[in-house]
Amino acid sequence: METITLPYITGDGVGAEITPAMQTIVDTALYKAYNGTRNIRWLEVFAGERAFRQTGTWLPEETLKVFEQHQVGIKGPLTTPVGEGVRSLNVVLRQSLDLYVCLRPVRWYRGISSPLLHPELVNMHIFRENTEDIYAGIEWEAGTSEAGKFYRFLHDQMGVANVRFPETSAFGVKPVSREGSERLVRAACRYALQHNLATVTLVHKGNIMKYTEGGFRRWGYALAAREFSDELSEGRLRINDCIADAFLQNTLLNPTAYSVIATLNLNGDYISDQLAAMVGGIGIAPGANINYQTGHAIFEATHGTAPDIAGSNRANPCSLILSAVMLLEHIGWNEAGALIENALEQSFVQERATLDLARFMPGGTALSTSGFTKEIVMRILGKYHA
Ligand code: NAI
Repeated sequence: METITLPYITGDGVGAEITPAMQTIVDTALYKAYNGTRNIRWLEVFAGERAFRQTGTWLPEETLKVFEQHQVGIKGPLTTPVGEGVRSLNVVLRQSLDLYVCLRPVRWYRGISSPLLHPELVNMHIFRENTEDIYAGIEWEAGTSEAGKFYRFLHDQMGVANVRFPETSAFGVKPVSREGSERLVRAACRYALQHNLATVTLVHKGNIMKYTEGGFRRWGYALAAREFSDELSEGRLRINDCIADAFLQNTLLNPTAYSVIATLNLNGDYISDQLAAMVGGIGIAPGANINYQTGHAIFEATHGTAPDIAGSNRANPCSLILSAVMLLEHIGWNEAGALIENALEQSFVQERATLDLARFMPGGTALSTSGFTKEIVMRILGKYHA
């Protein structure tokens, strides 16, 4: 018998509804797939409002320690505390465990309404760099002495003469490194090969930011040529690049041109939401933050805490459930993941889903979070009858 201990953060807002739903569905799928021989022992750790209420800190050290120790975990959405000097907990979590890849697979499930004519053509996997770029959080507010000092450094020592309004400018720094770019592109190439995906596309704004975004592109190509030369020459892997704005247009016009996308942090943020919208929105888009070198990975709902519907039993648990499917695949428990995906798709095909999805289905039936969860459980067990 194999039992893994899985740390999880329930999350704030709708987290209290979608996390238990996800756990019930995962436990059911494990039972059905492995008949009690593979199990998860759920270990709750705290972050966000729940942690703040209990411990007075938003992200207790203990939480980081447990994730560090157990390597793989899952989390619901967290409120970003509003206030000076408090950073996004998600960003802090990613940076403290150096989870340098934000992986977002994007595919369409039958039955889901999409703004595209052919959503079935979408099969893309976004590798978003998670630790660098403007997300490093290095910036100074306009009018502060730091902003003034930084401007004087630029002007007096670096010869920068083209800041249009120096007195009222805020400044930010965009660090992009060779190491950071290489490890992301390496992970994307390996993933493409493992999943028989043809192309890795480097998406960037190197036409404007020649050394940061352009550096990412150059280092990416050089790494592929150096480390994947056999695969490239045998045609098992292709690498190309696209400027970010053109990429957003092309994905709508010609989605089959892309499979694995490697990109920096900010571009990745925009790209993830657009691609998610192409197949049904962030309500069902899964994600994971991974360090492929240490093996640390946190799987997560990609949407926020949805305070407008929290507590009303209307939240869609699919983003977190599909993130759990990614987790099951990550640890090699694919059979359980496949059972869950099939059950979800059956439900969508029959136009049964939570309100956010059902309202766009021609004959959609809107289910509550708990009602939807029960149905998915019955479908996994093969006991669902309309
Ligand atoms: P949000 O994603 O919470 O909500 C945006 C809209 O989508 C709302 O209308 C909401 O009702 C809907 N929505 C989101 N998740 C849904 C679900 N599972 N089912 C049905 N509808 C859903 O984004 P918002 O309002 O900008 O942020 C609220 C809070 O969440 C903020 O504190 C923000 O910082 C945090 N946040 C946390 C994230 C994370 O932990 N990964 C990601 C994004 C935001």
